[in-house]
Amino acid sequence: MDLAQLVVFVFPAWLANAVPVVFGGGNRIDWGKKFWDGQPVFGKSKTWRGLYSGMAFGFASGAVIVAFFNEFYLAGYSVYEKLYLAFLLSLGAMLGDLLGSFIKRRRGFKEGRPSLVMDKLVFVATALGLCVAYSPPLWAEIGWTGLAFILALTYALHVFFNALAHRLKLKSVPW
Ligand code: CTP
Ligand code: MG
Repeated sequence: MDLAQLVVFVFPAWLANAVPVVFGGGNRIDWGKKFWDGQPVFGKSKTWRGLYSGMAFGFASGAVIVAFFNEFYLAGYSVYEKLYLAFLLSLGAMLGDLLGSFIKRRRGFKEGRPSLVMDKLVFVATALGLCVAYSPPLWAEIGWTGLAFILALTYALHVFFNALAHRLKLKSVPW
């Protein structure tokens, strides 16, 4: 895939990660439970509504992309496979986000404290990892250059949109 195709492909993961900032809230995924170390399992920022809304919007964006840009990316994959990949990207983004928070809590980081790798890169790496696990030939389409490009772009988008969310008073911290 060239870089424009990669952006179209990975978009559901980005959207899934961003949507909970707007729609999240309510019951925590860890139900307020503590892990063995006495720290929260995931923390107060991880909620069920955030998880469901992220997955729903991520998958829906994938459906829209397949409907309008099917010809543009991943020739050789059927519409159904692309829909399933959009589902995996959304699921992977949310699981990766949880994994990042889990690791931050284990390291004693309070909710909202920034961590470059956990906040900005783990979710998209997990999303891509699920897709490649489902369809190993996909790795040939992405490659190391593609991965490096996605990580760099994810970082830039994350910085921009978190600053924006802070200005719109959706987030208390600008990261
Ligand atoms: N959010 C949510 N449910 C999720 C993920 C995120 O409700 N599963 C919402 C929360 O309102 C959270 C916001 O999105 O405050 C931003 O998420 P994130 O930046 O991941 O939370 P942090 O406060 O930075 O927490 P952490 O330290 O665990 O990364
Ligand atoms: Mg964060």
